[in-house]
Amino acid sequence: MLQPLKIFDNKTELIEYISSLKANDATVGFVPTMGALHQGHLSLVNFGLVDNDFVVVSIFVNPTQFNNAEDLEKYPRTLGRDVKLLQTVSDERIIVYAPSVDDIYEGKTVSERFTFDGLEHEMEGAFRPGHFDGVGTIVKRLLEIVKPEQAYFGEKDFQQLQIVKKMVELHEIPTKIVGCAIYRAEDGLAMSSRNERLKPDYREAAPFIHKILKSAKEKFGTKSAKKVTEWVESQFKKHKLLELEYFLISDIKTLKPVKRKSTKKEYRAFIAVYADDIRLIDNIALN
Ligand code: PAJ
Repeated sequence: MLQPLKIFDNKTELIEYISSLKANDATVGFVPTMGALHQGHLSLVNFGLVDNDFVVVSIFVNPTQFNNAEDLEKYPRTLGRDVKLLQTVSDERIIVYAPSVDDIYEGKTVSERFTFDGLEHEMEGAFRPGHFDGVGTIVKRLLEIVKPEQAYFGEKDFQQLQIVKKMVELHEIPTKIVGCAIYRAEDGLAMSSRNERLKPDYREAAPFIHKILKSAKEKFGTKSAKKVTEWVESQFKKHKLLELEYFLISDIKTLKPVKRKSTKKEYRAFIAVYADDIRLIDNIALN
């Protein structure tokens, strides 16, 4: 019989419950999140519900992946609202796991050290030291707890998606990692939990990021990566509110910046921008 939305804050009880579902031949998908849920997260949950009988959604602001204490402290925590939002998608087929730091880290809140074939040194890895060790640590632990058939990650964090795929391969974790398209607000801004913290004038300015990415894509058809990058940098120099941290055109497999374009390779443009003190990232497929 179907049950109303279940919430667990304890891994032992969650594991027991998932085992009981699997004993009845149910398939279980998984969407890890840090909460402050929005339509982008819900799109992942919806993909999960298409492929699986049940979807576990974890809501956990993972301290070890924050390299900035203030960012961790200010990260929105809205469990009540998150649960209500999930109930609008499904009451019976979603299971929430919202653990405490202790339930995950058992008194030792530190990251494991990982290598992901060099993917960890690029972009977010270079600008946020330790970030991907934190992501690797939490995703590995969550996959070991939930043991899903499939887990869903957004292309919004494309580097994270590639790193998780690499981790699953290197550590032989029997979960298929599914990448899902970026969900955007009507004005083009990629949905993010951090958007909530944008002051109105910064929120109004922020769709500029996607606009520039779209123009960069168009220019990449005829211009070199260097020329496109210079053009993007010049656009941000003129902008009064948004400050560019990086814009890079990279090979989607190695995540290394392109030196000479090849028609055999796939490229994406990656961007990180400060809107006041809030850091926004986005990316776009170029070919
Ligand atoms: P969080 O930022 O909450 O994102 C959870 C998942 O939702 C990630 O896979 C992210 O890429 C995806 N997502 C966020 N915004 C999206 C959008 N606009 N469109 C599509 N997908 C989107 O990413 C994390 O949490 C954490 O690093 C986590 C993987 C949970 C580990 O702590």
